[in-house]
Amino acid sequence: MKQHWDALKDHAAAVEGRRILDLFDASRASDFSAEADGMILDYAKTNIDARGRALLLTLAEAAGVAARREAMFAGEKINETEGRAVLHTALRNLSASVVVDGRDVMPEVRATHARMQDFARDLRAGRFAGQGGAFTDVVNIGIGGSDLGPAMAYLALAPFVDGPRAHFISNVDGAHAADILKGLNPETTLVIVASKTFTTIETMTNAETVRRWMAARVTDPAAQFVAVSTAADRTAAFGIPPERVFGFEDWVGGRYSMWGPIGLSLMLAIGPERFDEFLAGGAAMDAHFRTAPLAQNLPVLLALVGIWHNQMCGHASRAVLPYDQRLARLPAYLQQLEMESNGKRVAMDGSDLPYHSGPIVWGEPGTNGQHAFYQLIHQGTRIVPCEFLLARRGHEPDLAHQHLLLAANCLAQSEALLRGRSYEEARAIMEKKGLTGAELDRQARHRVFPGNRPSTTLAYDQLTPFTLGQIIALYEHRVFVEGVILGINSYDQWGVELGKELALALQPVLEGRALTTGKDGSTARLAQWFHG
Ligand code: F6P
Repeated sequence: MKQHWDALKDHAAAVEGRRILDLFDASRASDFSAEADGMILDYAKTNIDARGRALLLTLAEAAGVAARREAMFAGEKINETEGRAVLHTALRNLSASVVVDGRDVMPEVRATHARMQDFARDLRAGRFAGQGGAFTDVVNIGIGGSDLGPAMAYLALAPFVDGPRAHFISNVDGAHAADILKGLNPETTLVIVASKTFTTIETMTNAETVRRWMAARVTDPAAQFVAVSTAADRTAAFGIPPERVFGFEDWVGGRYSMWGPIGLSLMLAIGPERFDEFLAGGAAMDAHFRTAPLAQNLPVLLALVGIWHNQMCGHASRAVLPYDQRLARLPAYLQQLEMESNGKRVAMDGSDLPYHSGPIVWGEPGTNGQHAFYQLIHQGTRIVPCEFLLARRGHEPDLAHQHLLLAANCLAQSEALLRGRSYEEARAIMEKKGLTGAELDRQARHRVFPGNRPSTTLAYDQLTPFTLGQIIALYEHRVFVEGVILGINSYDQWGVELGKELALALQPVLEGRALTTGKDGSTARLAQWFHG
């Protein structure tokens, strides 16, 4: 591995600062793009050339991406620190047979999926109703992977929503529950308590709050509660009968779980048929990931672009910029997917990682971001590789002119990042405005765009359930490939534990029932201030 890594580093150093624009010949645009089921990844606007790509592909091969990929799909315990398989892919490939610990796990996956479908059909048809009649609203209580996926997808698939409205309560801040409940009728609201572990303090606290809210108006609040969890004993202890518990197994990571019961709120909103189209999109990307040669493999290429920018070029962050307003929550979703998966400081064997962990991921939909942080992206001193997403068609035919404007902006931004504007060009513009001498020079310098800033564009026809499935599976596999190349375990998240433990220990301190002994001066002082 080391020689491949070093060769790439050398190559990156040798081509640093070269004009990406100069790499364009008649075929670069098609050579440096790949396609899967109508989805196009264009990475021509990066400083990766044929040699760089060959070295990256060699790195992926040397890291054993192909073998590791098959191990994942086959149900091997590639989550080595927790001794678990990683099988979210099984949730979207229901006809498969997958053996874990000598048992085919698929009959149970299929049975749960069928139960979810029946439940969704009954609820959507009003056969399963609340005390006040058919359910009009669903509140999903969950956090992290038990919230971000369905919340992101519910917004993304708004044009397909023909069932109850979905709402998402995640934050332990009581303001979140209060604001959402304010507009709801408890008699026609279904509550889904979504927690893999059913111990997460935010979720359990909010579940109690919502149960109290419902108990004030509904005779049997438990009848309007559903649980989604791997912990049947705890859901029972909470008072939810087994027929309204949708289980899954520990081989589904929280941030990879929206394909199964954690996606129930989405299924209720868009219906089981549309939900299956979402699964089909994910399965199509799985098939592409497993069969396409690495050089044409979208998740592999996206991962290699990421490795190139983060590891070889030293660009620590990555902006996700969907020119698709309904993907407004995609950056937040990808933050968890990428940063909880690949934000690790040690390799699989526990040794210190000899390079940086995965990148910082952030973003906002375009064109909003253009009027906020793009200034830094264009003229800041740090380079932020940008990942644009763009649909050819929107869902509002009567507003097609706005979609065209949106698309023009998306293409214009990646073009501007690539091309930039030279001092001479800026000077000519300011000269035309009548400026001369030192003032002309000063004003022109402020208007220079260095350009040569890398970006990729993911292009698709329209944001449908199928497309969304493709997009999410694409990013999941991208994170997987990056993790394999970095030699880390992308499927644990020990880094979230310390804060949770300290918060538990601080509760009695803030209540004034315990002393600040052992706390650092700053924490102790703030705790005393809070207690008053
Ligand atoms: O604290 C991090 C985390 O464990 C995430 O990985 C997970 O998605 C989230 O909390 C919620 O966990 P649960 O579904 O068990 O409530």
